Amino acid sequence: MSFTIEEGTVDDWRVATDLMAEHVHWYKSYRDLETYWQAYGKENVSFLIAKGREKEFYGCGQVAKLNGHISTIGVYFVHPEHQGKGIGSAIFSKLIEPSVKEGRNIGLNAAPTMTKNYDCKAGFSKYPNWKIEVLAFKNFQTEKIEQLTKAATCRIIDRREVQLAKLIEYDSKIAGGFDRSGFVEHWTAHPDGVTKIALAANGDVIGYATGRLVKNDLFIFCPLYADDDATARQLILALLHRDNAVARKNGYFFSTTPTYQRLMTILSDFADVEHTTYRISQFTKEAPVPNSDKVYSISDIGLGFI
Ligand SMILES: CC(C)(COP(=O)(O)OP(=O)(O)OC[C@H]1O[C@@H](n2cnc3c(N)ncnc32)[C@H](O)[C@@H]1OP(=O)(O)O)[C@@H](O)C(=O)NCCC(=O)NCCS
Repeated sequence: MSFTIEEGTVDDWRVATDLMAEHVHWYKSYRDLETYWQAYGKENVSFLIAKGREKEFYGCGQVAKLNGHISTIGVYFVHPEHQGKGIGSAIFSKLIEPSVKEGRNIGLNAAPTMTKNYDCKAGFSKYPNWKIEVLAFKNFQTEKIEQLTKAATCRIIDRREVQLAKLIEYDSKIAGGFDRSGFVEHWTAHPDGVTKIALAANGDVIGYATGRLVKNDLFIFCPLYADDDATARQLILALLHRDNAVARKNGYFFSTTPTYQRLMTILSDFADVEHTTYRISQFTKEAPVPNSDKVYSISDIGLGFI
């Protein structure tokens, strides 16, 4: 089987985004790649793409080197017509090689069918004590928003109104002490996204959420971090408010096992909600220990380790 593997461009990302939505129902924004470059530094992000003789898409995969000696893998996908011919394994080896050489801890959010392969064949054998639960919401009832927003328990502000340092500090607390300043700065300003921050009466940050519009007109909550259910609810309502041009009535959350039942209860007040599937976080060296109890949706199902 003849194929080449090269560094993908923004145009390649567009092609991959369309094919992943069609074949595996993974929904990305066309502008995610450029946002990753900003968030992690272009030199720390690799988006590899396998192509055939006519430069047609065969498969792809992505890796980011994050602070704290963690690398994460995302969008590992081979077109169904070309699966089982060694293309995926070739992409994957090339993706992880630099991180392996640097002795990094590598993590990914595995589809259940791949967990055993990653564990037994590639050494992704360290697991946190939660799974990522995928919740789909539909038919968000906009008319209920006024009534529910009136019962607000905290102040919700826009991203430009918060001191970035305070937001970064909060994020790091939830992420188990990891410094994700680049991610927080740029992901919360995603061109297809909207970010809201929840403040306590004393001005402390007690939650934040970014929602972004992705392929198929869906709205993805990544992340939704909050100190309690009432704050999570306020952030959801604020993001889905009709004033946000990108907000949509249908979309997804990537919750953790400790929060997802509570999130289902919150959402069922104003939307139809369904638990669809799950992902398993797996690491090569050790599973980080974030504050998963406050993670109503992880930071990014692609490259986020929490
Ligand atoms: C997973 C996927 C990318 C593999 O691509 P591929 O080109 O079919 O893979 P290969 O032909 O190189 O793989 C052959 C074998 O190695 C396994 N394998 C592939 N990549 C692997 C990896 N990174 N680690 C361990 N095992 C792997 C395959 O499951 C297969 O095992 P088998 O022979 O026991 O059945 C592809 O099947 C796919 O796109 N699946 C749907 C999307 C998906 O689930 N992606 C993974 C999300 S975590």
